[in-house]
Amino acid sequence: MPRRRDGHSFILMANRLPVDRCGDSWHTAPGGLVSALAPIAKAESGAWIGWPGTCEETIEPFGVGGMHLVPIPLSCAEHRQYYEGFSNAVLWPLYHDLIVAPEYRRDWWFAYEAVNARFARAAIETAAYGATIWIHDYHLQLVPRMIRGQRPDVRIGFFNHIPFPPVELLAQLPWREAVMDGLLGADVIGLQRESDVTNFRAASQRFLGIDPDRVSNVIGAYPISVDVDAIREAAESESVARLARQFRHDLGNPEVLMLGIDRLDYTKGIPQRLHAVEELLDEGALDPETTVLAQVAVPSREGIGAYQDLRDEVERLIGRVNGRFGTIERGVVQYAHQSYSFEATIALYLAADVLLVTSLRDGMNLVAKEFVTARQGSGGALVLSEFAGAADELDRAIIVNPHDTSGLKNGIRQAASLTGDDAPEQMAAMAAAVKDNDLHQWARRFLNDLQSPMNSGLPLLKMPTRKTTGNLREVKHVGR
Ligand code: G6P
Repeated sequence: MPRRRDGHSFILMANRLPVDRCGDSWHTAPGGLVSALAPIAKAESGAWIGWPGTCEETIEPFGVGGMHLVPIPLSCAEHRQYYEGFSNAVLWPLYHDLIVAPEYRRDWWFAYEAVNARFARAAIETAAYGATIWIHDYHLQLVPRMIRGQRPDVRIGFFNHIPFPPVELLAQLPWREAVMDGLLGADVIGLQRESDVTNFRAASQRFLGIDPDRVSNVIGAYPISVDVDAIREAAESESVARLARQFRHDLGNPEVLMLGIDRLDYTKGIPQRLHAVEELLDEGALDPETTVLAQVAVPSREGIGAYQDLRDEVERLIGRVNGRFGTIERGVVQYAHQSYSFEATIALYLAADVLLVTSLRDGMNLVAKEFVTARQGSGGALVLSEFAGAADELDRAIIVNPHDTSGLKNGIRQAASLTGDDAPEQMAAMAAAVKDNDLHQWARRFLNDLQSPMNSGLPLLKMPTRKTTGNLREVKHVGR
């Protein structure tokens, strides 16, 4: 192996590049992960490898904000098969408790392998000798092993932002051995919760025959967090305070303003939330004249059928609630199918009394952490699903099971009675818990562990019998 003196010593890999395109120019996309990792990437001669967001377009590497970006092209077929198909219609539902049924199509798997191989090749070509490579999320689970096979000199970290499924569910995946083997090419694998780590250990044993103690130095729980200083700075700014007052005014100055902010995804439990609110209005436990639920649904993965169905269902339910309990001038549920800027989102957190997080399964849920951070203990209430990773740290929230409509209604009713400046103590305790492990500490902790010689992957992995990864050739396959 020639010693590469050129190349980048710190490489981030994620399905998406952290940029938005505006005409001919690119801007760093807003978002916590970018704000935490971009400074490290800049300081360390860093590169970011990812998909630029368009199909059938080859874009040369370019620089933005001190970072070197390496765009990975996808054809339209690959977008359909690797991104919409295997990543988001197989892995996403499988890793989120099968809320919808995955379609185990072989042509999607082959596209996933081919695109993972393309990402791996870009990393192999971009990394300086001894570089640190940090791979993010479920789209790229084969990449650690693919890089390891060609570049034993580099340190490889993998962080999964979504839950890791119980072994009984992962067992359904026809390519489970290849996925586990792919991941175990990393020196350190970070998961969100201890329960994810437990699931991973069980899967390593069952599918690869690895003694769970042997993976102890490789995997760990690294609950991701938010950029506390950036949120607080925004929350303290006069412009955001003004926007918050404006939101509340425009929403009719309700006595109780409840807020939901979610990507429009079936994992978020939005219909469950709407059913509970509808029953509370029906029973008179919430007063439609003084209560508003503001629901922001950020458009997501709109090419996938399950997402289109969810949108139809959510909009039908909102229409029904407003038809039953609203008037021509005033809807009880105010709904926006669009994304809001960082400042506007913080203003919504400040304007609201209650945040509803009712995920059926969620790796972490950063909206919950942002809400308690923005409010800085100034009261309000957080209704939080026990199935969101954030529930481990935010245990002073009103914890609910979103499948239990009666329990969810009790939680919402309790939260709605804690309006204004009530319950600042719980909110302050939760804000302090978030500050103790903010996004920067999270990144430092992961990277320190990745540098530690104690954590060096598995030296002698028992290879799975059906090994399908590690081959960087992009093979064409037929059949579904
Ligand atoms: C989740 C995933 C991320 C993903 C994001 C948005 O948070 O963990 O990896 O980027 O959803 O989804 P999208 O499909 O639009 O990238």
